[in-house]
Amino acid sequence: MHDAVTRAFIVAALVVITLGGCRSRSSDPPAATKPTLDSALLREFAGAYPEAAPKGGALREIDIVAAETVLPLVDGTAMRVWAYNGSVPGPVLRVRLGETIRVRFTNKLPQSTTIHWHGVRVPNGMDGVPHVTQPAIEPGQTFVYEFAPKDAGTFWFHPHVRAAEQVERGLYGVLIVEDAAPLPYTRDVVWVLDDWLRDASGQIVEQFVTPHDLAHDGRWGNVVTTNGTTKETLVVGSGDRIRLRLVNTANGRVFKPDLSALDAKVIAIDGMYVREPMSPKGLEIAPGNRVDLDVSLAGASSSRIEIVDHFYASSPNHLADIVIGADSPVAPPFASPAHARVPKWAEAMSVPAHHDYQLDARRGGPYGVEWTIDGVAMHDHDHAQASSVTLEHGKFYRLRFTNLSSRLHPIHLHGMFFRLLARNGNAVDEPFFRDTALIHAKETIDVGVVPLDDGRWMMHCHILEHAEAGMMTTIDVRSGS
Ligand code: C2O
Ligand code: CU
Repeated sequence: MHDAVTRAFIVAALVVITLGGCRSRSSDPPAATKPTLDSALLREFAGAYPEAAPKGGALREIDIVAAETVLPLVDGTAMRVWAYNGSVPGPVLRVRLGETIRVRFTNKLPQSTTIHWHGVRVPNGMDGVPHVTQPAIEPGQTFVYEFAPKDAGTFWFHPHVRAAEQVERGLYGVLIVEDAAPLPYTRDVVWVLDDWLRDASGQIVEQFVTPHDLAHDGRWGNVVTTNGTTKETLVVGSGDRIRLRLVNTANGRVFKPDLSALDAKVIAIDGMYVREPMSPKGLEIAPGNRVDLDVSLAGASSSRIEIVDHFYASSPNHLADIVIGADSPVAPPFASPAHARVPKWAEAMSVPAHHDYQLDARRGGPYGVEWTIDGVAMHDHDHAQASSVTLEHGKFYRLRFTNLSSRLHPIHLHGMFFRLLARNGNAVDEPFFRDTALIHAKETIDVGVVPLDDGRWMMHCHILEHAEAGMMTTIDVRSGS
């Protein structure tokens, strides 16, 4: 009897607490379930992002200049490109978690530009989006980017002005934020995957954002490179254990590398460690995505391993060779890095979608075809007037993306990571966060996100031609009242 009364009291008290926390809208589910579910999802999220970066790290100052140049690329042809600090790919910047990076950037291009730090949770004003977070940097001008990365991992940087042209011409670099205490891999290697559309003389075809690109999955080149060459060879020792970081900087091409000949485990996606090391089988690397692999060479069955992309099985592309050049001692064992706190969010699909983005195309606009989000094509100049979905800082949201078209859309969110919850309504437990998720033809995906960084952030298709032709919008993240 006594127990029953106590129980009834507790239930009543819970109902009061729950109702008190709920600002009811007509579309809300019954008041008793939603806030409880939200707080359960948030409890699961606690600790899902790595601990705060250590304070008091060094200031790392770097100069970057963007300029036209000529470089021997692809097969050694002297190619006219645009480059950061005279190289394509641009420099690999390495900082340690806790350090602050200050980039003095000078634009020597014939066009205005910016630098966007893809995947890095920067203060909004450092995000490099013209008309939203800063004015475009005009030819001859300098701008200083400064931020302390909050997450360790593999990131990259590229222009956010006429990106379909500027990235294609060669403007991209890699930013590696090392863990506060990096693991003892024998080597840490970066493979920048890209493709090039070249004319008969080996120069970049200078028609950008063409009707053909727009009717397809953007611009796919006629030659694929790793680190700017078709002959990338990684020479390793027989006992090496390497951390191999893949970055897809292509405008439109998706890579699906066949790594089955390697002892390789995926340890991070889009910079963030996975819940536990996983098989790379079937992994699709869309434009913008990064994949970190833990590769052990000891036990390799051959001394030359060819890595091939087979996104389209009918036309595989050579990516690189790994050659075991010399005997080396077997690397001392250590556990692959992982981040066990990636939430499962098994109940998340019962939270109502905060927004259902409709992705589609139509005729019209400056390029003849427009790619739209919710029927709106956003172009660079109207960024500032954009209507924006608003999210409250620190809350859980389910966002849905419905692809009404028959093309691919790797959707990228600035300023936040999200977890894929479902494809076509079927729950998937991807054990990692992402900043870019590939949506296939006619597919619907659901993602869960808890934004932690305030500001107006871009959300767009990372097929750069689709973005240029309108497939962009913004998300406002605000602190709750
Ligand atoms: Cu890598 Cu908004 O882009
Ligand atoms: Cu797209």
